Amino acid sequence: MKTVLSGIQPSGNFHIGNLYGAINQWVRMQNEYDIIAMVADLHAITIPQDPKKLQEKIKEVVALNLAAGIDPNKSHIFIQSENPDHTYLAWILNTITSFGQLERMTQFKEKSQKHEENVGLFDYPVLMAADILLYQTDEVPVGEDQKQHLELARDLAEKFNSRFGEVFKIPAAYIVNETARIMSLQNPEMKMSKSDSNPLGAINLLDSEEEIRGKIKKAVTDSSSSISRNAGSAAISNLLTIYASFNNQTLDQVYSELEGKSYGEFKNLLADVVVKKLLEIQKRYQEIREDEQALRKILDQGRDYAISKSSQTLLEVKEKVGLV
Ligand code: AMP
Ligand code: TRP
Repeated sequence: MKTVLSGIQPSGNFHIGNLYGAINQWVRMQNEYDIIAMVADLHAITIPQDPKKLQEKIKEVVALNLAAGIDPNKSHIFIQSENPDHTYLAWILNTITSFGQLERMTQFKEKSQKHEENVGLFDYPVLMAADILLYQTDEVPVGEDQKQHLELARDLAEKFNSRFGEVFKIPAAYIVNETARIMSLQNPEMKMSKSDSNPLGAINLLDSEEEIRGKIKKAVTDSSSSISRNAGSAAISNLLTIYASFNNQTLDQVYSELEGKSYGEFKNLLADVVVKKLLEIQKRYQEIREDEQALRKILDQGRDYAISKSSQTLLEVKEKVGLV
């Protein structure tokens, strides 16, 4: 069985783009792949976090993934900081990483302008390489912004293997289905995003019914007034894509159903399906989140599984390097 490792930062709010672009895909892959979902808390603290809120966010991310369908009997979910192998391997990889490789990282350049710079932010891609390489990962689901980091993981794996002997599998990017891309409700040229400055752009998984309906009502459309197969502007196509995803339909089926309906009528139908689905997820979320003991058990199992795999890789690394 192939291994897929995904990393999710416990920061920002999860939105329906994450649900359809990421979580749902993993849910579908659970039977064919060994999915390891890691909450990247050590990555998150490279940007200042409120310590009181961080614990809460970590648990929220875990519970949301479970509520959205990650099945702990099939997949594994764990918290990065609970497996010390990650920081250990990152240190060893540091010794084969050049300054130039990290100085080139566009995310580092961007983030160190926006936030107070720190060495953790600089070293972030090396820790991410360690996350990936510890599990002999076959595929890593990554968005555009993480491709350069995955490239570094591949380079470091090759460098280590050629310098010390074969240990690491070379991971590949798992390209997420492009049709699953959901755009901002306020600007259909921009991806729906956690960091959108306009709060009306994204529907968050934990939004209230009122918020969901309000955001859909205010979503931008175009100059016509009813749905027509040929006229499809980016704004309307995006709303139709969301409708199709939530109903498990193709866009073609959706056009057949909705052709001729006014935008107002369509928005009401769209709000109904989104509200129904998100309230279901929220109900499961509340149950999971409230049962701290059960949540802890899932995370313990996830951590034990993670360590059982990563410790084998790390032992080989130590042997090759001469540390044991
Ligand atoms: P991010 O929210 O950028 O940390 O992304 C987390 C995951 O969600 C990535 O795997 C992305 O591919 C996916 N994702 C983020 N935003 C969208 C979006 N607007 N549409 C589809 N997938 C998305
Ligand atoms: N850096 C990734 C992000 O911001 C999160 C992440 C950390 C990750 N470690 C990973 C993703 C390992 C994939 C594999 O989205």
